[in-house]
Amino acid sequence: MHKSKLHRLLLCLSIVLMSPFSLANETLSLKQAFSNDFYIGASLKAEFVDTSNHANKQLINREFNSVTSANMLKWGPLNPKANTFNFNSADNFVEFGALNNHYVVGHVLFWHNQTPKWVFQHNKHKLLNREQLLARMNERVKLLSKRYTNEIHAWDVVNETILSNGQWRNSKWIEIIGEDFAEQAFIIADKHLPKSTELIYNDFGMTAPGRRDAVVKMVKQMKAKGIRVDGIGMQAHWSLNSPSIAEIEKSIVAFANTGVDVHITELDIDVLPREKSQFGANTKLKLPMTKHNNPYADGLPQAVDMALAQRYKDIFELFLKHKKSIKRVTFWGVTDQDSWLNNWPIKGRTSYPLLFNRHGQAKAAYQQVIGLKKQPVASSTK
Ligand code: GLA
Repeated sequence: MHKSKLHRLLLCLSIVLMSPFSLANETLSLKQAFSNDFYIGASLKAEFVDTSNHANKQLINREFNSVTSANMLKWGPLNPKANTFNFNSADNFVEFGALNNHYVVGHVLFWHNQTPKWVFQHNKHKLLNREQLLARMNERVKLLSKRYTNEIHAWDVVNETILSNGQWRNSKWIEIIGEDFAEQAFIIADKHLPKSTELIYNDFGMTAPGRRDAVVKMVKQMKAKGIRVDGIGMQAHWSLNSPSIAEIEKSIVAFANTGVDVHITELDIDVLPREKSQFGANTKLKLPMTKHNNPYADGLPQAVDMALAQRYKDIFELFLKHKKSIKRVTFWGVTDQDSWLNNWPIKGRTSYPLLFNRHGQAKAAYQQVIGLKKQPVASSTK
């Protein structure tokens, strides 16, 4: 038999043997299985928390012990105009987290995307100056801190301000404030939020050597200046083959060596065809859908499901190896149905990046991940 076929067959067999109906894992959920290792989280959309009996609420509370707001706390959705605030969903999210004892993550204080133009402007013709923009940043954090004081346990303070080559991203933040934008953001967060609230720097493509080195340098410099940073968030929007486990490990180790916690903040594994150029955070990217780029509209072939299961197994094996450094592993979404990858970079595709299928049922990948807790794993190298 062909080697890869044999491998797939063995994997299938191991999945059947550890199905949720087998005795050992009958009642184990993800959060229970990893309770001594790291939080297991999911990002929630407004519809989850705004619908009192959303079908997935039970699933969220059974499997996860951490929740992240997908969009509700971003500047744009929360405060689209200078004096317009949409607190409803954000309040529901925070209340849901508190009622169900989740480790609640606020996402995100300062980002170049989903931030309205008015934030940077006096009026249509005039930008704010540095002091004025810093004052506006202070106002936002003060307001959020007052409203959700001890109910949000960690904040992504800055998202995506470093490019893969290590340079600062060209944004209104950098243009108006200057190269110390991230430093100022953490100073402001520390000034207004409780000391127990963890402050995180979050970014995508964190295995790119240029970005990895620049994040390490930035965090070390902040710490040297006495600026509080508690965590580095690796978004982890990955695909079946990339990045390699070795590259992911290099980044976990490099980030942990700065002395802060590593958070895996937005994990999903794309199984759909992706051009290299599509990696990244360009959420405005729109490409046409074809048969070729939407190959699994009628269901995921078993071979791909198995490959996804194997990929998740490899990744969680690595996370367990570094569990001393990793505080949390959060998936970007709960089920395949609500993943952003159904609409990015091509609208309307059928995507399968998470552990639960469109009906909220555990996939082969789930069985592989939870199955790891039955086996001894190598200890942390930290
Ligand atoms: C980035 C952001 C998230 C989200 C995803 C795509 O990773 O950090 O808030 O917008 O893109 O959904």
